[in-house]
Amino acid sequence: METAQVKKLKNFINGEWKEPSTEKSTKVYNPANSETLAEVPLSNARDVKAAAAAAVSAQKKWALVPAPQRAEVLYKTGLIMKEKKEHLARLLTMENGKVIEEARGEVQEGIDMAFYMAGEGRRLFGQTTPSELKDKFAMSVRAPVGVVGIITPWNFPIAIATWKSFPAIVAGNAVIWKPATETPLMAFELAGILHEAGLPEGVLNVVFGSGSTVGEAMIEEDVIRVISFTGSNEVGRNIAGKCGSRLKKVSLEMGGKNGVIVMDDADLSLAAEGILWSAFGTSGQRCTACSRVMVHENVKKELEDRLVQAAAKLTIGNGLDESIKVGPIINRGGLEKIQNYVDIGESEGAKLLTGGSVMDKGALKNGCYFAPTIFTDVTPGMRIAREEIFGPVVSLISVKNFEEAVDINNQVEFGLSSSIFTKDVNKVFAAQRDLDTGIVYINAGTTGAEIHLPFGGTKGTGNGHRDSGVAALDVFTEWKAVYVDFSGRLQRAQIDVEEGS
Ligand code: UN1
Repeated sequence: METAQVKKLKNFINGEWKEPSTEKSTKVYNPANSETLAEVPLSNARDVKAAAAAAVSAQKKWALVPAPQRAEVLYKTGLIMKEKKEHLARLLTMENGKVIEEARGEVQEGIDMAFYMAGEGRRLFGQTTPSELKDKFAMSVRAPVGVVGIITPWNFPIAIATWKSFPAIVAGNAVIWKPATETPLMAFELAGILHEAGLPEGVLNVVFGSGSTVGEAMIEEDVIRVISFTGSNEVGRNIAGKCGSRLKKVSLEMGGKNGVIVMDDADLSLAAEGILWSAFGTSGQRCTACSRVMVHENVKKELEDRLVQAAAKLTIGNGLDESIKVGPIINRGGLEKIQNYVDIGESEGAKLLTGGSVMDKGALKNGCYFAPTIFTDVTPGMRIAREEIFGPVVSLISVKNFEEAVDINNQVEFGLSSSIFTKDVNKVFAAQRDLDTGIVYINAGTTGAEIHLPFGGTKGTGNGHRDSGVAALDVFTEWKAVYVDFSGRLQRAQIDVEEGS
């Protein structure tokens, strides 16, 4: 299996790789085998200032480039990403751990976003409306907000970066990007690709470092008018508070506690497949991962048996091996958190059906592996049924009917994704109406959102904004209302209107 050359990374500011202004750095490890992959700088506020200065001057010119031309850079970016797809996917598996098939899927999500947002360059629709007055024209247009800050997580290090930076770029903004320190190689690659595609210097700047230093400096930097963040609830709330007092726009995409409902008329083989894929894919480290199953009591036993049998067949190991289905957890801290929740589940009285422990024997000994874990006889009040675990742990909760299932689904503080397996068309439509989440799936698991629809959630998952789809443009643009009076005289709105005319 390939080993990576250890890269000593630099920041990307004004189109160049620049030494950070500190000596501090941290190592990046492959979670599959603990091999060192890179050294990433822990930059400071001075580096953010340098990026901000570059971004401000670049943005002024970039905003004047016609949007279809801005879009061409993204189109070219998509083509280069396509050419480099396998290279990017392998590197992604090495720094994040997700299995190669899923890494290819994630890179594809970025390619899709490049082409989608390239199309937006010829739309960026506003509205034209009639005016109240004669010889007057009225319309609204999207204007860039200016310089935007994006803070991205390690679990989808390239896809989420494209969800945020591509709409920002096509709308005429300049970007300052703080990637997660666990997965800087995707940032290194993506910045290089955008540069190669012809993005002018300073339009995208990458500052590596911690949230507490670089993230905070981004919030404090006045010229950054928006922070778009994906990550934990705790950090998101902190960002929202600080941005609130500065009247800085903020878009948050945070935790999930996503539920699947299995009714007694469901295709149980399909339901088991969907649950397994969305609970254990990416080792459960998706915001959209299924971590609860509300199963009708009549089919509970059969579903349990099917899930346990299927989980036993999952191969666990280094995701570069094509036969592996479940890769490692991002790091030891992640493993400990998962183990802690399993212990909590057992002490709360949940019944462990399979898994429940770290895997560190044989070929797995140097990596961060956790066995796919299924709990049953879980009740909605238990912590494992309410809190985000971010690992391969799923809890089965028995329900008597559809209404109870929906009610339990909606009781948690998060609202990202949900799903129902049923053949009853009435329940399908009631479910899509009543499930209080930003994404609802029918007869599929809770993962697999496509980039042309809004991505995000209700309640503690976010603050009302969305990544992806046309909705992604909202946080990166300001609406500007434009009135053109071509009457040649002063016309006073609401006053110079002839009655009954
Ligand atoms: C995330 O987990 O933060 O819908 C993103 C999905 C993927 C994206 C997940 N397309 O599961």
